[in-house]
Amino acid sequence: MDTEKSILSLDTKGVMPFIVEKDYSLYKQKAKEAFKTLTNATGRGSEFLGWLNLPQTVTTTQIKEYNNIALEWKNNTDVVIVIGIGGSYLGAKAIIEALIHPFAWEVGTNGWPKVVFAGQNLSEDYMAELMDLVSNKRVSAIVISKSGTTTEPAVAFRFIRKHIEERYGKEEASKRIVAITDKSKGALKEVANKAGFRTFVIPDNVGGRYSVLTPVGLFPMAVAGLDVAKIIKGASAIRDVCYTEGDQNPAINYAAIRNLLYSKGKKAEILVNFNPKFQYFAEWWKQLFGESEGKEGLGIFPASVNFTSDLHSMGQYIQEGERFIFETVVDVKKPGRSVVINNDPVNSDGLNFLANKSLDQINKMARTGTMLAHIDGGVPNILIEVEQLDEYYLGALFYFFEFSCAISAYILGINPFNQPGVEAYKQNMFALLGKPGFEELAKKLRERL
Ligand code: PA5
Repeated sequence: MDTEKSILSLDTKGVMPFIVEKDYSLYKQKAKEAFKTLTNATGRGSEFLGWLNLPQTVTTTQIKEYNNIALEWKNNTDVVIVIGIGGSYLGAKAIIEALIHPFAWEVGTNGWPKVVFAGQNLSEDYMAELMDLVSNKRVSAIVISKSGTTTEPAVAFRFIRKHIEERYGKEEASKRIVAITDKSKGALKEVANKAGFRTFVIPDNVGGRYSVLTPVGLFPMAVAGLDVAKIIKGASAIRDVCYTEGDQNPAINYAAIRNLLYSKGKKAEILVNFNPKFQYFAEWWKQLFGESEGKEGLGIFPASVNFTSDLHSMGQYIQEGERFIFETVVDVKKPGRSVVINNDPVNSDGLNFLANKSLDQINKMARTGTMLAHIDGGVPNILIEVEQLDEYYLGALFYFFEFSCAISAYILGINPFNQPGVEAYKQNMFALLGKPGFEELAKKLRERL
């Protein structure tokens, strides 16, 4: 059993019935070599390692710039639309879903603008309904695209920019739109320069899905009223842990154990949570691992479930379906709030055996019971826990998974930092939509329809 006590704990005792020590040692060795490849920057894609040092390089001046605009918008904005897709949206969405009161808008306790998202799909209904939301609300927007050329956010931005410019005039609009993109390249940079939007830069050496600790994740969280300095502090603390050589490094051990399980036919990893606040964290995690590892015919398939909700849908399959899965539970030790079950003298629902227990105690027993049942059903179980859900621990989780993912991909011999497979659908879409330069491909595709 590994239980590293630090800012984050990795408990692998739920995997031990499925592996032998000799294999684990072998995979630990592979992970240690991959760790060296990563930290010495000698691996594939090493020109994209800027994320490794972000916790050390984000400056107080940068944080102040984010907070200044956030304060300005706090006074003149009800809704901020964050426009982006993939790595340019999932980090911010994960942070906001995890840390903002889900009913803040209705309860009216927040005092900060509501942050909503666009450009993460091409649904006409979604866009029309989003415009309904902002029609009588004061609105600002953040448009995020590293390449500055991605279709989904570019299309969404065209609508939203038009709405803001028509409503406020170009000068006021330029204060209500911030662009986050490359320092010099791409259509978005050009648009922002021409229109005089304020801009933040995504560093050249940080790819989309590793960019949550750049303005891509940090500025939207500032605008939502969250503590940017604290997320950096948490990431910085776990960075020290991740850089430790040896057997107590949870990132090395997590990468080792998941690759060992993969070698034994466990081809899918389910990220499990027992708190809906983690739902979008899991979406961020799936993109991180899916795009980093899923190439060259290899890679663990990343999936996710929200328990206990999904125990009533996916639970049956996990317990008794085909045996190619393992689970990684991400959880917090302490809930943010306290809700205790009352004693009912009549006890007609028979629930008095739970009286005076907190809902979290019940949830934790559901977690333990599920883990034991799934192990009995042939599903190895990894547990990753942090103390509580706040900016500090979320920063630690983001960095920990990025670091583990890079090690894991290097164990597989894969470049964790490219995504060549994402291009295929884009080329076809452009051709089918008649984009100039795609005529030949369009002809070939139409013949197949
Ligand atoms: O991880 C990645 O690099 C991708 O998922 C991108 O984030 C996504 O395709 C969006 O790209 P861009 O920020 O260039 O619009």
